[in-house]
Amino acid sequence: MNNQQQKRTLAVETLLVHAGNVRHNVDSTALAIYPSTSYMADSPEQLDEIMAGTTEGFSYSRHANPTVEGLTQAMAQLEGAGTVIATASGMAAIDAALFAASLAPGDTILLSRDLYGASLNLAGKVWGQFGVKSFMEDFTNLEQLQATLEKLRPKVLLFEVLSNPLLKVVDVSAVIAMAHQVNCQVIVDSTFTTPLMIRPLALGADMVIHSATKYLGGHGDAMGGIVAAHERYKEALQQYIKLRGGILGPFEAWLIHRGLQTLAVRFERQCENAWQLASKLDKSGLLKTVYHPFLPNHPTFATAKRYLPSHLGGAVVTLELFGGRKAAYTFLKSLRVVRSATTIGDVYTLCLYPVLASHRNQSEAERLEMGITEGTLRIAVGLEHPDDLFVDLIQAIEKAAQAN
Ligand SMILES: Cc1ncc(COP(=O)(O)O)c(C=O)c1O
Repeated sequence: MNNQQQKRTLAVETLLVHAGNVRHNVDSTALAIYPSTSYMADSPEQLDEIMAGTTEGFSYSRHANPTVEGLTQAMAQLEGAGTVIATASGMAAIDAALFAASLAPGDTILLSRDLYGASLNLAGKVWGQFGVKSFMEDFTNLEQLQATLEKLRPKVLLFEVLSNPLLKVVDVSAVIAMAHQVNCQVIVDSTFTTPLMIRPLALGADMVIHSATKYLGGHGDAMGGIVAAHERYKEALQQYIKLRGGILGPFEAWLIHRGLQTLAVRFERQCENAWQLASKLDKSGLLKTVYHPFLPNHPTFATAKRYLPSHLGGAVVTLELFGGRKAAYTFLKSLRVVRSATTIGDVYTLCLYPVLASHRNQSEAERLEMGITEGTLRIAVGLEHPDDLFVDLIQAIEKAAQAN
């Protein structure tokens, strides 16, 4: 009997939606992508248990998705976390962490002064609308921080281990201990440091966030965020994804999980490339300042040596040209291998001009107070050969000097 003669038991419309929708019980080596938005339980009783959270399983992808769970389980092990959620972006992860901290009107968030600009705005503008106050402090000045903590008694403290773009290293354990003394919860943004450089939960932090868009994904093709937290935040974080709904999609989760599998080799090479560039550029005498945590003239050199693994000083180098904006523009236009783009963590080396991008909302006086001048440029080092990067940077620096 050929296909024409075969009698259909169901109408073509029914077949079109159901045919081929087979469920395989296979053991694939790679994480599978499940784009399904909903899942069938074996029985109404089982569905009831899944919905109640008494049985593990899936019902609806905003609540839980098997591919996303592959990523969150990996991150829980990497960060030593009791609970992990994956969000649509790093910003959503910070928002989720602030939500899980149970902030109420009148509460205070204390932020490190050189935090990512959008994080400062999220706290100040978005949470500010709900009556939450936010203040900034220099987290590398422990004496001043102690006094501010005692005065403000904040409910939450949020900082990055490596500051952006000047790469100051915070004394994480000391800050956590000081915060806990005044009953303040600690959220660490470990985007620049990855779980390879530091594991803040093991040092006592309450929550860790990552922009997975950066090193975790690593290829500049997926946006995502991670909150890794102590078990006590599980309910609040689940509520955030179920009710606010800023979840990570399965395709992005798959890409970020695949990125994680090569994170160690990528990040170690990127850190090595960054260190080679930093030390050679520092010796070149062609720059006003070169910032890298392991350069002995860096203001937080001693803390960096204490906290960071000796081969992982981060994959970012920041340069200060002798000239101002004109020199910086010439530098950016002269780059041939390095790409001018705003992010970090990709396989390509990327250069960001803070005055135009990350710090464009700060006044010049505010930037100068942070140490960012019109000649400051951030290089997020990729996987190219470091000699090609050095040659490219030197020729751009020389052209910038002529434009000055
Ligand atoms: C340190 C840091 N945290 C958070 C974010 C926000 O992440 P996303 O762009 O994935 O929302 C960024 C983005 O640049 C960042 O650099």
